[in-house]
Amino acid sequence: MKAHLTRRYILSASHRLHTGALSDEQNLATYGKCNNPHGHGHNYSLEVTVSGQVSSDTGMVCNLADLDEAVRHTVLDCFDHQNLNMLAGFASLVPTTENLAEAIYNILEQSIHSAHLEKVRIEETMNNSFEYAGGAELRH
Ligand code: NI
Repeated sequence: MKAHLTRRYILSASHRLHTGALSDEQNLATYGKCNNPHGHGHNYSLEVTVSGQVSSDTGMVCNLADLDEAVRHTVLDCFDHQNLNMLAGFASLVPTTENLAEAIYNILEQSIHSAHLEKVRIEETMNNSFEYAGGAELRH
């Protein structure tokens, strides 16, 4: 039997939405108040969904402690309480939550070994959430 498991983590970080590809006026028109030069913060809710065969021995898809450790070491320790704009991965990439979801998915795809990573979902606010499940070019 195959099952999905979704685990939620809280990730607090700040960002400013701004791209060097646009003028200051265009940035303001595109990102509105999210273009505020001083940035702003979010308490992101990160949901990681994995799948796999339910072990007949343990009755579980994977050990939650293993999943927590992978997410903590490779994602939370890098992104939590950071200014996303200052991180190397966003040096030339606007830290929208779409891009954050893709970055976290790509990291977790390499670091979760005990189950198959299905998708990453991030709630930025009560009204906005973003999902990324890998690009078509990455599927195999
Ligand atoms: Ni924001």
